[in-house]
Amino acid sequence: MSGGRGAFVLGPRTTIWTDRADSAVAARFARQIAPATGLDLVVKIGAGTSGSRIVFRQAAEGDTALGREGYRLQITPGVATVTSAAPAGAFYASQTMRQLLPAAVFRSALVSGTAWSMPAVTIEDRPRFQWRGAHLDVSRHFMPKEFVKKYIDLLALHKMNTFHWHLTDDQGWRLEIKKYPRLTEVGAWRSQTLAGRPQHDSAANVFDKARHGGFYTQDDAREIVAYARDRFVRVVPEIEMPGHSQATIAAYPFLGNFGDTVPVWTTWGVTPHILNPSDSTIAFMQDVLTEVMALFPSEFIHIGGDEAPKTEWKASPRAQARMKELGLSNENELQSWFTTKMDVFLASHGRRLVGWDEILEGGLAPNAVVMSWRGIAGGITAARAGHDVVMAPENYTYFDKYQSLNKDAEPLAIGGFLPIDSVYAYEPVPPELEARYASHILGAQGQVWTEYITGPKQVEYMAYPRISVLSEVLWTPRTRRDFADFSARLPAHLRRLNALDVNYRP
Ligand code: ACM
Repeated sequence: MSGGRGAFVLGPRTTIWTDRADSAVAARFARQIAPATGLDLVVKIGAGTSGSRIVFRQAAEGDTALGREGYRLQITPGVATVTSAAPAGAFYASQTMRQLLPAAVFRSALVSGTAWSMPAVTIEDRPRFQWRGAHLDVSRHFMPKEFVKKYIDLLALHKMNTFHWHLTDDQGWRLEIKKYPRLTEVGAWRSQTLAGRPQHDSAANVFDKARHGGFYTQDDAREIVAYARDRFVRVVPEIEMPGHSQATIAAYPFLGNFGDTVPVWTTWGVTPHILNPSDSTIAFMQDVLTEVMALFPSEFIHIGGDEAPKTEWKASPRAQARMKELGLSNENELQSWFTTKMDVFLASHGRRLVGWDEILEGGLAPNAVVMSWRGIAGGITAARAGHDVVMAPENYTYFDKYQSLNKDAEPLAIGGFLPIDSVYAYEPVPPELEARYASHILGAQGQVWTEYITGPKQVEYMAYPRISVLSEVLWTPRTRRDFADFSARLPAHLRRLNALDVNYRP
């Protein structure tokens, strides 16, 4: 980036010129800045050469410096030129232009008396990582569709490109599946929710005695996917198996190991109730994935795989017989067999399975992408074995942890302490990983688990500004990262979040 002289002042006569490929991005930029500026900028296909103008144009053939997501932005008084090889790059340039304008541009109604100017500057920019993500758990607490869109919108503003939607867990199944309606009729609702933390003696647990639930229809999911796609965010759905499945089993008891009925769970932790490893259960979950794939174009489909206690499989004659028949020596290998069934199924449809790092334990499914959450060891092992990896270590990327050591002054959270300087210091490529495997680290993502996060305002409190911090870690070259510099820029960014009504932690 280099500074120039003067500034570009947007006015009613500013015209946006664009090539055909970038026209949707150009039009979105015009719509994004319209409410606050009151400017209804004209968007024209072509290459205007006179007057106040913003020009979107394709990089020359053979200009490979920008990649698919990079851009060049040159702003001079009167002319702003965006050059990109693909619309994603043009979109990120348009987000940079929004940030170069006064923070009030993020408001949703007319702000008068402001000069809408961008400083003269030349920027060439592209992301360091291809997976720049944030996760949201909508199972422990259901989040309204409109908020999911706002969450995605904020990711896009931060040039994040992946939304990992944690749709199922013990406490609620949140996606309509046409073939199995009880997944939402039963599985989307719990009778009550634990108040405060689980007590050592579970008889002492206190509950709120209020039914909680909700789910997304398939139309809702399509709407969210389209909304995200318009903002260059891919939606990676997660359907948990074989653990974190108590709501699944509550809906269809034949999926459990003992055919007994369990309720959608009302407390937090790791339940022993996991799916049974029968052919009919495999077929059931593949049916679910068939509907999931029809809704979500993402190459990556997440099947969970974490925290599946083997107590029930050890006690179940059926599971033990299955192990024997398959020649497996332990229950971890049985989970690996289960995961591989899904892996092969997804691969046969051109998709790639993603799972939490427990999927390594009984031997890794051939095409699997590993999401390393219990630290970084799983990620290192998987990368050395030639697998792609997304880093999500809890010590650096779990944004359900406290943001202060003065926990009494904070809303109840799961524990821990993860301040923004720790997030900023996080390096996604482990120093001990040999350089030849580094390209297997696709990137990283932040996690927002919602056991103690009951609604949108609290999600924002936990997620911001930590997602802002992580977005810089994932975009900026390592050598350019500087926490002092970031800290100096943060107040200006918080003004943008204020304008967007984001309830970040001050
Ligand atoms: C996890 O936190 N159980 C992935």
